[in-house]
Amino acid sequence: MKQIAIFASGSGSNAENLIRHYLNSDKAKVAVVFTNNAQAGVIARAEKYAIPVVVFNRDQYKQDNFLETELENRHIDYILLAGFLWLFPINIVRKYPHKILNIHPALLPKYGGKGMYGEHVHRAVLTNGDNIHGVTVHYVNENFDEGEILLQQRFDVAPTDDIQLILRKIHEVETELYPKAADILISGDN
Ligand code: GRF
Repeated sequence: MKQIAIFASGSGSNAENLIRHYLNSDKAKVAVVFTNNAQAGVIARAEKYAIPVVVFNRDQYKQDNFLETELENRHIDYILLAGFLWLFPINIVRKYPHKILNIHPALLPKYGGKGMYGEHVHRAVLTNGDNIHGVTVHYVNENFDEGEILLQQRFDVAPTDDIQLILRKIHEVETELYPKAADILISGDN
């Protein structure tokens, strides 16, 4: 059984979706959720499924061995970032080559990088009058949103679409795409 760690900073709808996806799996399970935000909605979502949650602060995050030890002690094989807003530590990226995924609510390489998250992305899409938008799941490297792309799914944007509609479409696509990408990762077929 492969052990998955999820990192999230916010509401955690993607985290919960992944937790549910692996609840009855004989291949993998979500073993722990890490968050940098003691107020994050993801905490209650994880606790609903009795998944342990580790809340950490900036100082712990910066220590080389804090996360490494946490991940090692829990025998983590794969890491899924689901709305995690801090740059992922380089020592962990090196320790888990091609074993860390992130989901980004845009068609990378468009609308990626620091500050490009949530509504900032969708406002830029609307301002630029794009008629296609979508979601990317990519491997994590040492830069924000720049790792190799694993899967993308696109959808049409109409000039009359507003942020709320785009957020709903993104959510729908993410719900389908992230479990699919995670399955590819853990099957080793990537
Ligand atoms: C998602 O849109 C994801 O693509 C992005 O952050 C958002 C997290 O939402 N990286 P949630 O916390 O999973 O609800």
